[in-house]
Amino acid sequence: MADLSCNIAGVESINPFWLASAPPTDKYINVVRAFEAGWGGVVWKTLGIDPPVINVSSRYGVHKNGNQAILGINNIELISDRPLETNLEEIRRLRKEWPDRVIIGSMMAEIEEDIWKELAVRIADSGVQGIELNLGCPHGMCERGMGSAIGQVPEMVEKVTRWVRDVVDIPVFTKLTPNITNILWSAEAAQKGGADAVSLINTVNSVVSVDLDAMAPTPVVNGKGTHGGYCGSAVKPIALHMVAEIARNPETSDLAMSAIGGIETWRDAAEFIALGAEGLQVCTAAMLYGFRIVDDMIAGLSGWMDEKGYKTISDFRGMAVPNTVDWNALDMNFDTKAYIDPDSCIECGRCHIACEDTAHQAIEFSVAEDGKRTFTVVDEECVGCNLCAMICPVPECIEMRPVDNGKPAMTWPEHPLNPMKAAE
Ligand SMILES: Cc1cc2nc3c(=O)[nH]c(=O)nc-3n(C[C@H](O)[C@H](O)[C@H](O)COP(=O)(O)O)c2cc1C
Repeated sequence: MADLSCNIAGVESINPFWLASAPPTDKYINVVRAFEAGWGGVVWKTLGIDPPVINVSSRYGVHKNGNQAILGINNIELISDRPLETNLEEIRRLRKEWPDRVIIGSMMAEIEEDIWKELAVRIADSGVQGIELNLGCPHGMCERGMGSAIGQVPEMVEKVTRWVRDVVDIPVFTKLTPNITNILWSAEAAQKGGADAVSLINTVNSVVSVDLDAMAPTPVVNGKGTHGGYCGSAVKPIALHMVAEIARNPETSDLAMSAIGGIETWRDAAEFIALGAEGLQVCTAAMLYGFRIVDDMIAGLSGWMDEKGYKTISDFRGMAVPNTVDWNALDMNFDTKAYIDPDSCIECGRCHIACEDTAHQAIEFSVAEDGKRTFTVVDEECVGCNLCAMICPVPECIEMRPVDNGKPAMTWPEHPLNPMKAAE
């Protein structure tokens, strides 16, 4: 069976699955339950030097699809509202009781060097294997000059990372906010400051819905709402992109990454690893489905690795990075055409409507005497956009088949219509 043990920025873990800093890692009892369920590690709920933290009620908003499935949640919660010393005492106890599991201490403070250093040392002294700097929370703490207020300014990211790096001798993970223009600016700043790894992403600025009776954004707190941090399955594409950008940027390609954002299944996990992540963190999926999801993640990932012949995580880590390129390096002459399998087609006509109304009028249909409708792709009109295959409700009924058009591979820089090329 595949070996899932791994080393994440110098921290040994029995598997790559850690719980992200959030309510699931808020206190002793939750973390015991997480370790019993099989999680390799936890990043403790963010700690501050006993800042005046008052949480509101309620705290979460939700974005569902028409079938009531949760796509994402947002939260307006703050950092730990329990005394620092209580948290540290529980961490000390857990480190003794669960020596093979990882506990990373997460911290945040105002932009004051002494406070960052004092807090980092106190947390490190509790026995954690690493420290994560929370430079990402987009609500509540940033209004006090913390969280994303620091994470959105690369010079500050570098500065606080260095403050902590200078006073602790355990790995430092700088946790990045996605609420920026270019993730590379923050990742490079963290690296300059001496980070051993970056953790990404923290939550995305969001208003998930408006309560039309209260006429306020949700969650509604006594008649008023505010923006919160969005997370869960819906943010996975944003996180994957940011992880890929860091992995393929020559300046940061050696920077270890603890990937976070919408990880719900082993497949999500494998995708982040294929894009270069060393480890994974999960929050929303654990909140929605409970800690036991780690069983499926472990079984699924190791089963797939066995099938593919990967013995360890590093056997496939980063394998998708060389294939993640700028748009202009794509083959302009590559061609695919949709093919509709008549045997599995349920005649719903969604492909036809979508293509007819919004794409290339490339799907015709005929009606037989018995009323059976047959949908057929007109190859000459099909541009291979994929829309029909995406919306078809029957798995694998519509296949995008590569076709040989006799043209050699050609990237945009080589294309005769490229204005730069024309000017040569
Ligand atoms: C209710 C809630 C509280 C959170 N609190 C923290 C926190 O204290 N510190 C932190 O770094 N991230 C916090 N996060 C962000 C998560 O650690 C994680 O970065 C984010 O939820 C994306 O992962 P996910 O899509 O698996 O949820 C919180 C998220 C949620 C939902």
